[in-house]
Amino acid sequence: MPAFQPKKAWPGAHIAIQGVSHRYRRASGNALSGIDLEIKPCEAVALVGRSGCGKSTLLHIIAGLVAPSMGEIRIDGARVEGASPRWVVMFQQPHLYPWMSVAQNVGLGLKFAGRPRAEIAARVGELLHLVELDGYAERNAQDLSGGQQQRVALARSLATCPEVLLLDEPFSALDAVTRRALQRDVRRIAEEMKITLVIVTHDIPEAVTMADRAVIMRSDPGRIAEIVPVAVDRSDADPERRAASIQAAQARLQAAFERATGPAAPDASLTPDSHNQETPRTEPLKIVAAGHR
Ligand SMILES: Nc1ncnc2c1ncn2[C@@H]1O[C@H](COP(=O)(O)OP(=O)(O)O)[C@@H](O)[C@H]1O
Ligand SMILES: [Mg+2]
Repeated sequence: MPAFQPKKAWPGAHIAIQGVSHRYRRASGNALSGIDLEIKPCEAVALVGRSGCGKSTLLHIIAGLVAPSMGEIRIDGARVEGASPRWVVMFQQPHLYPWMSVAQNVGLGLKFAGRPRAEIAARVGELLHLVELDGYAERNAQDLSGGQQQRVALARSLATCPEVLLLDEPFSALDAVTRRALQRDVRRIAEEMKITLVIVTHDIPEAVTMADRAVIMRSDPGRIAEIVPVAVDRSDADPERRAASIQAAQARLQAAFERATGPAAPDASLTPDSHNQETPRTEPLKIVAAGHR
């Protein structure tokens, strides 16, 4: 791991969501109602709920992309009033410039920030190493697989050392093996770079892999039903004990999900068992990322 550390006085950012409600223009009801939530610096929080319960709306409000009808977001005490390089959103699509090289895509934000060419080249190299794309710098972005493009977009998102990474179901278009590897990688990178993570997902295994806490939401209007600590010791060297604690966490989240939304599985294609197996890394890992603004 190269020494790639954000230059900050304190790690991560504190996020305060205070009395947030939202109603879209011409909508008959509220998409969100009375959301209060505090997220600690460097914490990883998953917003979990069925389609339409307002997860993306809340994420966009946190990112300053949508102004809430009521309430406010404060990041490190300052009211969010728009986009910022301090908080970066990753969407399902990588949104790369297809005619540019990988290095050019990753370094774009730094170029716009007026950083010297040598500094950009050095940092791009570090970032590509971080996302396990060493050797891809000069490749054309459009010649990469979808997953590799997503890794490029992640590197681009991390280039300006954001304090918050907001992910809106960024892995849902990927195959299961790639998805699992990426979930672990993004969590590792967030820990290493001391980034606060907010992950929107309807996938309970994903929430358990990535988050410290799961915020279970219900619909009509979108609101918080329950907050469940994930409580998995990821550093436990005993694989059986770790697998058991992952399974127990998934069961706790599933039960909370069903209390909030009814009994059907949130994502029938993903079983807890498939999630517990360590995934061999046989190919360069892939990322769904986007949205460095
Ligand atoms: N731009 C919009 N205009 C009107 N209604 C919207 C808009 N975006 C989302 N909605 C509605 O708001 C609710 C929450 O949507 P969304 O935040 O996308 O949910 P989720 O991400 O949990 O699937 C849904 O009922 C959806 O139809
Ligand atoms: Mg959504």
